Amino acid sequence: TKIAVFASGSGSNFQAIQEAISRGELNATIELVITDKPGAYVVTRAQNCGIPVVELAPKNFADKAAYEAKLIKLLKEREIEWIILAGYMRLVGETLLAAYEHRIINIHPSLLPSFPGKDAIGQAMAHGVKVTGVTVHYVDAGMDTGKIISQGAVDVIDGDREATEERIHKLEHALYTRTLQQLFNAKK
Ligand code: GRF
Repeated sequence: TKIAVFASGSGSNFQAIQEAISRGELNATIELVITDKPGAYVVTRAQNCGIPVVELAPKNFADKAAYEAKLIKLLKEREIEWIILAGYMRLVGETLLAAYEHRIINIHPSLLPSFPGKDAIGQAMAHGVKVTGVTVHYVDAGMDTGKIISQGAVDVIDGDREATEERIHKLEHALYTRTLQQLFNAKK
């Protein structure tokens, strides 16, 4: 299964997916990493794994449709079947959604539909919930609103954001690769 990973930041989920592939736990190849944030740490991670990475700043395009048309060209050239969002901090527009219908997946660090959008972990802690978690879902035009595929729960450690965050990221890395494997097997 040929996949592309889209990321805007650190890329720890990218790395977890790549390591699962190397261990033979996920039957896929990351053909391409795309970032909308030139210089993001995910670029270094991709280079260290020898995976092609494209850095594209949307502001250099006339509009979102033009930016996404360029993405689609890159994806089609490499026969990408699935787009895996991993900390991609941008709404996917109708151009890309139409080209990859039901083939774009995201991971979000909360139990959706609670705490969509930015800083979901901070939102959950500010709200005082005792259990939060991770959601893998299909991407639609909304902000973290697509159909839920899998979830896992994480206990909040009161007042300790760092420890809570660490647990959430650990679960993300495990849940994402497990869920992707199930999806790829089912949709062959
Ligand atoms: C993760 O928490 C993911 O759920 C969210 O953005 C973060 C990305 O982390 N969408 P990383 O770049 O994969 O380390």
